[in-house]
Amino acid sequence: MTRKIIVTSALPYANAPIHIGHLVEYLQTDIWVRFQKMLGNQCLYFCADDTHGTPIMISAFAAGITPEQLIERMHKEHKTDFDGFFVEFDNYYTTHSPENKYFSELIFNSLNKAGSIVKRTIEQAYCQNCKMSLPDRYIRGTCPRCGAEEQYGDSCEVCSGTHQPTDLINPCCATCRQKPTRQTSEHYFFKLADYEEKLKDLIIKGYTQKSVANKLDEWFKTGLKDWDISRDGPYFGFKIPGEENKFFYVWLDAPIGYMASAKNFCDKNKLDFDNLWNSNEYELYHFIGKDIMYFHALFWPAMLIGSGFKTADKLFVHGFLTVKGEKMSKSRGTFIKAATYLKYLDPEYLRYYYASKLTAGIEDIDLNTDDFINKINSNLVGKFANLASRSGPMLAKNLDSQLGQLDDRGKQLINKLTAAKDQIIQDYEQLNYAAVVRTINALADESNRYVEQNQPWATIKNDPEKTRTTLTATINAVRILTIYLKPVLPKFAQKVEKFLNARELSFNGTETILQNHKINKFERLFERIDKKQVNTMIEESKETQSPQPQPASTIEPIKPECSFEDFEKIDLRIAKVIKAETVEGADKLLRLNLDVGGIEKSCLAAIAQAYKSDELTGKTVIYLANLKPRKMRFGLSEGMILATGTGGKDIFMLSADHGTKPGQKVL
Ligand code: 2FM
Ligand code: ZN
Repeated sequence: MTRKIIVTSALPYANAPIHIGHLVEYLQTDIWVRFQKMLGNQCLYFCADDTHGTPIMISAFAAGITPEQLIERMHKEHKTDFDGFFVEFDNYYTTHSPENKYFSELIFNSLNKAGSIVKRTIEQAYCQNCKMSLPDRYIRGTCPRCGAEEQYGDSCEVCSGTHQPTDLINPCCATCRQKPTRQTSEHYFFKLADYEEKLKDLIIKGYTQKSVANKLDEWFKTGLKDWDISRDGPYFGFKIPGEENKFFYVWLDAPIGYMASAKNFCDKNKLDFDNLWNSNEYELYHFIGKDIMYFHALFWPAMLIGSGFKTADKLFVHGFLTVKGEKMSKSRGTFIKAATYLKYLDPEYLRYYYASKLTAGIEDIDLNTDDFINKINSNLVGKFANLASRSGPMLAKNLDSQLGQLDDRGKQLINKLTAAKDQIIQDYEQLNYAAVVRTINALADESNRYVEQNQPWATIKNDPEKTRTTLTATINAVRILTIYLKPVLPKFAQKVEKFLNARELSFNGTETILQNHKINKFERLFERIDKKQVNTMIEESKETQSPQPQPASTIEPIKPECSFEDFEKIDLRIAKVIKAETVEGADKLLRLNLDVGGIEKSCLAAIAQAYKSDELTGKTVIYLANLKPRKMRFGLSEGMILATGTGGKDIFMLSADHGTKPGQKVL
């Protein structure tokens, strides 16, 4: 029976490039999705960029662009990286979307109605200079436990201890280095503990792997705490309904992004979202890393239960990537970006290597570069590509590319290969790719032994038909092995499909034997890796110092482009100050009466801290003459004088040279 399956991978943050650590998950998921599709199941793979939150807002400001511009740029980059590794989503969307806003509000309102949301006043760190509340990660200071400097507000990377930001010695704002103050604010909390029994039920029914369930048990024992789901502005995210300056915390709308991506897909493909997302017709699986278990095993299902949506059938949790047994490191060059990898190496090498390591467990997987080179060269090149390159060209050169028939020995080999199918399917299904690869390698060894025993390079000299029989079995072995490897190596499989000149390879085609069949020209499948390629990639990935974030307060985002035509609408004139006076109740403003070539205009200017009213009379300034008059609290303001500086005392009026006349146009 055809299954209908929806699959998601965790949404990558839109402020950083995809790296080889991320790829463990996307490749694990993509292999599973491709496997399901190859079985003939209807499987849809949804993902999106995770676009909201303080780090994204600050990264955008640091880059001098708006968060919207940043997330648009990153979306393209991420998509290019995923395409480069053949990660094939059915929809790759964004959490900054109307669909996500809709579902976030819907879920929030439903939870509110169900009584699962409470408001509470909290104290939070605030930077007077950056004018924003500071998340724990944006406070730095000395660890109270071990004395290490420059540690985050919530944990120490040196002694691994956790603490409160208030415990830090000499705390400061990570962006501007000023000492944070405390501020009270009303926040919204989700009462997670209300869902404890339902969450326990879910876990008993097999929502997660056993090792994850054990971890969850510990959390249940320590007690489920209310979850703060709001953040004060400035914040890049969705406004909370009914609030002016409060936003949903990024982690509230992030998993809802799975639904939003599915909804967007349904709308584009005229499918019924409710049926797809919320009926039992479709199975639903989330792939995630073990660092975000709390969100996906507790908050997310509780949010869904509380708002009347179904929960996923299963959460597949994987471990982290280590490189040569250590955490990926920028200084050692092992924090390798997807794009850097692709400059030097074939994406299928990494797909194969990760597959050879992945099981259904949550243990970390290690990328050892020597082992990587060795596995690629001895297995991909030495076993699989070799089998094809030993047989295809010989058949083309000497035997008109024409396959013959299997003899008994050939049949035996092929039967052995086809007999492994059920086990391989079961291992793929259970995410035990390491076992799949082991089985396939053993079968490839068996096939290569068959070639060695039959020595086609020798028999071709005097027994072409015997050679044809040998090569027929060999090429059929290549075909079956390629079927088994296709979820892992889609490009390789495509090349083999072309070379075999047969139907698209799928699991239900393993029993088909290609006999008396003409094959196509052979195309090289894989090249050996030279250690130099890996070394150069690592050298290029080395960063001596992690880039320091720019102070958010001094760099405003650059506004969206305006056209030259827009710019030309501006009419700048020379104006002479006839009179300047203070404005009662507004200590930053002065009212200026201006002579703009015989026409008198009156405008308000926020320059009172930089200039005294009596020093301005007679000054010549540059004046934006055609700005629409604005009615302000302190009266009408016509046009605007131009000044520069960062504000307060630091304001300099742009004055015109001698010899200019009021009303004269400024270029
Ligand atoms: O940890 C992360 O990288 C998050 N961006 C994952 C979000 S997954 C889902 F909840 F959106
Ligand atoms: Zn600051």
